[in-house]
Amino acid sequence: MSVLVTGGAGYIGSHVVRLLHQRSESVLVVDGLSSGLRERIGSSAFLQLDLAAPGAEETLVQAMREHGVTSVIHFAAQKQVGVSVQEPEFYYSQNIGGMANLLSAMRKTGVDRFVFSSSAATYGMPDVDSVNEDSACNPINPYGETKLIGEWMTANAARAWGLRAANLRYFNVAGAGWPELADTAVMNLVPIVFAALKAGKSPIVFGDDYPTADGSCIRDYVHVHDLAEAHLSALDYLERDHRSFSTFNVGTGNGSSVFEVLTEIKRVTGIDFDIDIQKRRAGDPPSLCADVTRIEEELGWKAKQGLSEIIESAWSAITAS
Ligand code: WQD
Repeated sequence: MSVLVTGGAGYIGSHVVRLLHQRSESVLVVDGLSSGLRERIGSSAFLQLDLAAPGAEETLVQAMREHGVTSVIHFAAQKQVGVSVQEPEFYYSQNIGGMANLLSAMRKTGVDRFVFSSSAATYGMPDVDSVNEDSACNPINPYGETKLIGEWMTANAARAWGLRAANLRYFNVAGAGWPELADTAVMNLVPIVFAALKAGKSPIVFGDDYPTADGSCIRDYVHVHDLAEAHLSALDYLERDHRSFSTFNVGTGNGSSVFEVLTEIKRVTGIDFDIDIQKRRAGDPPSLCADVTRIEEELGWKAKQGLSEIIESAWSAITAS
């Protein structure tokens, strides 16, 4: 088996690349390096390519033939929700155009196994605390729309030419499986809080008046190492199961509030910081947690690590750098 990993130099992709190497799989990383880091993938076979660029499909076809690619894990995408609202055309061309080129290249080369990096952003603002894969999808920003359209693309390719796909809807990913693969972007709660502490500022909580136990928002935080393992479980599933495509939530099934995350950060770092309570951030659902029944039953995958391991590993990566 030879696995093409698009976006393999990114935070999550590089964890998967490392696990694939540990399993002695042959890996080809394709990454445009718009946010990925070359050093994350060591000596893996590498092609620098923006999947949405003119001519990308032919370049992919050639590279896939040369490397004897048999399956694809697709991470490469733009992922900043706020930017997607400002620059929707760019998000559609990158995330949808890039994926169309990739699926065309797969069809041309007869590669039919596909693991797609989708998102809980596909659900939008659900009015239930725990969503399963059959819950309604109403994304509330172009980023979430591109992920939902990506899922539709896998469904249509399954019908049209027999693609077999697993769409993985990630919840809130954090932590580091290896310090050098840590998230270097400062876009989500845990890295934002660490950056604030480094700058000597008080972390911000967006809203303490939600209808939750402590008033702050609840999310399902999943350790990036667990998430990476879910991709290998998905590949194995596609290997043994002939169903055309399926969608899986990837979370822990347990929620943590923003205050609980901050309390854990205080415990792990030993820093006793003040908290700056601000008004609610637009578009934040009060509570969003994964129903993980399907992934546990069908993929045999279950998160092993919780909030403590997430914060501890993220903090170790900072102190090691
Ligand atoms: C988590 C909680 C904030 C920063 C986003 C995307 C989603 C998916 C995962 C990719 C929220 C609160 C945050 C801060 C805070 N991405 N917060 N102070 O919004 O749940 O999900 O990442 O697929 O599409 O929207 O993640 O880390 O931004 O926020 O209080 O300084 O932390 O309000 O409740 P979110 P997040």
